[in-house]
Amino acid sequence: TTVAVLFGGRSSEHSISCATAGGVLEAIDRSRFDVVPVGITREGAFVLEADDPARFRLDPGALPEVTDNGTRVLWPESTASRELSVREADGTVRSLGEVDVVFPILHGPFGEDGTVQGLFELLGLPYVGSGVLASALGMDKHFTKTVLEGAGIAVAPWRTVSARQWASAPDAVAAAAESLGFPLFVKPARAGSSVGVSKVTSAEGLAAAVELALREDSRVLLEQAIVGREVECAVLGGRDGGAPRVSVAGEIVMTTREFYDFEAKYLDAPGVDLVCPAVLDDAELAEMQELAARAFTAIDGAGLARVDFFLTPSGFVINEINTMPGFTPISMFPKCWIASGLSYPELISELIDLALE
Ligand code: DAL
Ligand code: MG
Repeated sequence: TTVAVLFGGRSSEHSISCATAGGVLEAIDRSRFDVVPVGITREGAFVLEADDPARFRLDPGALPEVTDNGTRVLWPESTASRELSVREADGTVRSLGEVDVVFPILHGPFGEDGTVQGLFELLGLPYVGSGVLASALGMDKHFTKTVLEGAGIAVAPWRTVSARQWASAPDAVAAAAESLGFPLFVKPARAGSSVGVSKVTSAEGLAAAVELALREDSRVLLEQAIVGREVECAVLGGRDGGAPRVSVAGEIVMTTREFYDFEAKYLDAPGVDLVCPAVLDDAELAEMQELAARAFTAIDGAGLARVDFFLTPSGFVINEINTMPGFTPISMFPKCWIASGLSYPELISELIDLALE
């Protein structure tokens, strides 16, 4: 089976995608899978990359990156073909052979949001993970919450503000923030890894936070800060049309940090511990797993997701769903599956098998 592993991309999570891909290139079962590594530069060029996990390690001092080496990967011209080609830097074109499945290990807009999934639908190429709708919903925090609320799942109270509303009526936005209460989080609607996210503790901080979030997207969310434990679990799509499978829980324990921001996630900033499995009683875990499966089904998820919760004194609140969660070997998604009995290489094989089912 030949797998095109796709990574990098145009979003602010470019490097995180490269790090995830590095983990996958390192661990994928080479006795079952041939790999064609396809990088997407920050500008959006598809390039043939080195099949070299070491190039894409998550080094806090030098985040990995796809660079333009002059090659261009050419997708099939019609649904009648699954042949990939590469145009070399000197202009010659050579075949890379047929691919059976694409593994779009892309985070953020133009990768995790249904756009690249739409390309593969057009080309008739099987791919790992959620389809167009679930990817688009999961990427957009406003619409995720809208759909989850509709499915009867608790989410943090929020208001969505467009760049235009902010420009024309900042007082109304400030009033919306007051009515939600401080502290609150300001987040871009479509981004990940906490890029553009701020915790705002008083009205004075609102403008800077909104401006920062608007750099990532034209809509931002003001979201009530939920007080509770931060717990997550990992979902795999069901086999043969069966129910989604849900892992044990992991927990993010904030020791000295304000929140689980980009620095804590990827740059080894101190003050946050990941604990897996999280200490939950059986009833709590069962409820969390049921909610995760319900949320996955509500957005029409497929393949995989990580569902992030707050456990509050009055029950679980879903923070968000990530349809392509980070999964370097130390990320929460594989940690949750390892704690549930599935090794990292087995997890990769399972995801590809699900796509080919
Ligand atoms: N957006 C990052 C990659 C995550 O959810 O893990
Ligand atoms: Mg996210």
